[in-house]
Amino acid sequence: MPYYSDELVEEVRSANDIVDVISGYVRLQKKGRDYFGLCPFHNERSPSFSVSQGKQMYYCFGCGAGGNALTFLMQYENATFQEALEILAQKAGIDLPKQELSGKERQEADRRARLLEINKVAAKYFYAQLRMEQGQRGMEYFANRGLSPEIMKKFGLGYSNKFSDDLYQYLRKQGYEDGILKDSGLVTIEESRGGRDKFWNRVMFPIMDVNHRVIGFGGRVMGEGEPKYLNSPETKIFDKSRNLYGLNIARSSRRPGILLCEGYMDVIALHQAGFDNAVASLGTSFTQGHASLLKRYTKEVYCTFDSDGAGTKAALRAIPILKDAGISVKIISMEPYKDPDEFIRNQGAKSYQERINNAKNSFMFEIEALEREFDLQDPESKTLFYNAIAEKILQFEEELERDNYIEAVAKLYQIGYENLRKLVMHLGTRAGFGREVRSLKSGINENKKKAKEDGIKQSQRLMLTWLIEMPELFEVVTPYIQPEDFTEELYQKAAKEVFAQYENGELNPAKIISMFTDEEQQSEIAGLFHAKLLNVETKTEREKALKETIIKVKESSISFRSHHLDPSDLEGLQKLVADKKRLQELLGVRFTLE
Ligand code: GTP
Ligand code: MN
Repeated sequence: MPYYSDELVEEVRSANDIVDVISGYVRLQKKGRDYFGLCPFHNERSPSFSVSQGKQMYYCFGCGAGGNALTFLMQYENATFQEALEILAQKAGIDLPKQELSGKERQEADRRARLLEINKVAAKYFYAQLRMEQGQRGMEYFANRGLSPEIMKKFGLGYSNKFSDDLYQYLRKQGYEDGILKDSGLVTIEESRGGRDKFWNRVMFPIMDVNHRVIGFGGRVMGEGEPKYLNSPETKIFDKSRNLYGLNIARSSRRPGILLCEGYMDVIALHQAGFDNAVASLGTSFTQGHASLLKRYTKEVYCTFDSDGAGTKAALRAIPILKDAGISVKIISMEPYKDPDEFIRNQGAKSYQERINNAKNSFMFEIEALEREFDLQDPESKTLFYNAIAEKILQFEEELERDNYIEAVAKLYQIGYENLRKLVMHLGTRAGFGREVRSLKSGINENKKKAKEDGIKQSQRLMLTWLIEMPELFEVVTPYIQPEDFTEELYQKAAKEVFAQYENGELNPAKIISMFTDEEQQSEIAGLFHAKLLNVETKTEREKALKETIIKVKESSISFRSHHLDPSDLEGLQKLVADKKRLQELLGVRFTLE
């Protein structure tokens, strides 16, 4: 993966005006110093999406999306940092240099490139075979399953014919030697018989990564037979836990959320029916890697798994993984059909859309699965079930959210609302019960703690925004505040850059943003430079607000350091004492801005 210097990134970024870049996607109107429009990253009626030409940054006060021109392209086009850079370079007519790699890196990159090439050649071969006379059986198979020529083309479907070494022979003729062919997973090399194809007499599903590059294959027997599906083994370019079938198309779908299914055929059937936001894992179970991949493209996933026990199990496994990644999850039932493919074939797209609309909340789905482990006819078992529900409800930290679930569950099982609420409270407050029981009380304390942390972060953001918008404040602020006082790790990194830029006489917040290649960090940093300024019209108000902010930032820095100070660190201790003294002085004096 090429790596560009900060200077080059900055050259490319600053050659593009952010207002021009964003105007290509969002209708902007100038209001005062800034431009405003409807945020493309969340649904809204009145514009809270702002673009600052001065700062070369955008920020949405509604959803927190923000960054510089690179971030915008990453968010809007689902581009990687490098892709965004390439887009901007092209717009500005700047040639990005080819990267110098070390010998080993070059070899590695060459090998990957060749593996990708082999997969592409193989995909074309299978694709052509399907459309020739020897592919007729495959064609009939797909037609019987209701696939149109268009959708077969879109997914690059193919056919591996009856000969068990013709792909191998073909690839050899193209100049690929045994070593690399073996690594591709498409052939096995046997001492006695030579090269053999992994796939033969199967219909073929090329598997693509999000950038449409073929990285492996799935092959299905036509009719009965074992194994039903054969998949490429993992290779240097094929990581099953980090790729999802169909995501190359689904990533740019305009439909809300992502539909997660189990099978290749489910994905294809859904796309054919217009649900081009469907993806599937690659014959393996759902992983954290899949969840973080999905997180790049969506906030909401609909699990549309098989109706059988295995499908339910797969959903119960995927729910916590998705939730941990910060994705909200709903479950779609395919009853009375086996899977989305069969559902669509029998009921059509409209009914499927209704199933989406009626998707079940994942918590209620989990509760219903839990229910099956108990015998509700037996009072003892029933009591245990209610206790299990109550414990599960404790996972919600917000009282209001807990209440909503208590209400929903109470209604579903006709338990008295008050009774269930008392049970939840009781379990919650019972002390020393291990990790499972997070007491309601401490839940509230946690909320308070969180509110305090938010307050601290807020004042650190305010401080940085001020310094950027009114650089003259540096003189007043630096005697008290230094980058080290920003206790949040990411904030501190950003603060260091801001202070250094000021020293060099070139404040440039948009440049700092592209020092971070991660989209979420970019947005968070944009938020730092875009805090909502309080109403500070008069000089006295400004002085008061600034003094308060300095005090807040310094106090939290002092408190943070006293908690983390190594007792043998004398220098640190001295600095702490001096800082405390300085803070006391500041508290006492009237703080003036000239
Ligand atoms: P169809 O019968 O073609 O409709 O299959 P399906 O898409 O309904 O698949 P199924 O629910 O049986 O399996 C879901 C997914 O699991 C498939 O898309 C494959 O990725 C994988 N899979 C199924 N059978 C096998 C198998 O025998 N071996 C391997 N490795 N994977 C399989
Ligand atoms: Mn199926």
